[in-house]
Amino acid sequence: MIRAITPDDASDVATLAVTSELFPPEAIGFVQQMMADYFAAKADGGHACLVDDHDGRLAAVAYYEPLPATDRTWELTMIGVDRSHHRRGVGTGLLQAVEADLRTRDQRLLLIQTSATPAFDRARAFYLSCGYDEEARVRDYYETGDDMVLFRKDLTAPALESGSH
Ligand SMILES: CC(C)(COP(=O)(O)OP(=O)(O)OC[C@H]1O[C@@H](n2cnc3c(N)ncnc32)[C@H](O)[C@@H]1OP(=O)(O)O)[C@@H](O)C(=O)NCCC(=O)NCCS
Repeated sequence: MIRAITPDDASDVATLAVTSELFPPEAIGFVQQMMADYFAAKADGGHACLVDDHDGRLAAVAYYEPLPATDRTWELTMIGVDRSHHRRGVGTGLLQAVEADLRTRDQRLLLIQTSATPAFDRARAFYLSCGYDEEARVRDYYETGDDMVLFRKDLTAPALESGSH
């Protein structure tokens, strides 16, 4: 069941960020801080976080936030699916739920940044499968030799079926 995150989910989300292979184990503190900031202030500031709860166990998480100084443009800053659920349409379903939430609120654009390195081949394939366009590349963005790829979806366009699930 896809639902909004609650404070009780915070530690499971930090674990999920690692089991999804989104972050290495040593980065779990970063996600814990992200969750603490979310419940302390960011949620009130408009950030949003959905989880996919499979019978009390979190299978996936997505975090998204409005970009300052834009007209209803958002960025998906985190999406991760537990490794045991990969390639079953869970990520597609969760990203579609994010888009549906933003469309319901009359938001306009959703952007996603990712790396151009082979480690993120599946992430880029996933965004293309979900109907995102590769909009731009910034060379050496993360570090020398590690370019950033920016994906974009126009939320005002009619929602299309994406993926084969
Ligand atoms: C990227 C991620 C969220 C995809 O989640 P998922 O639930 O496995 O994705 P889905 O099952 O919805 O896949 C939809 C489509 O995306 C593409 N895709 C997903 N994983 C893929 C992979 N490993 N290799 C190639 N294509 C892939 C396929 O087109 C797939 O459709 P198909 O399975 O019918 O071929 C998941 O792999 C993940 O959590 N990765 C680690 C964290 C991460 O990289 N997050 C993004 C950071 S920018």
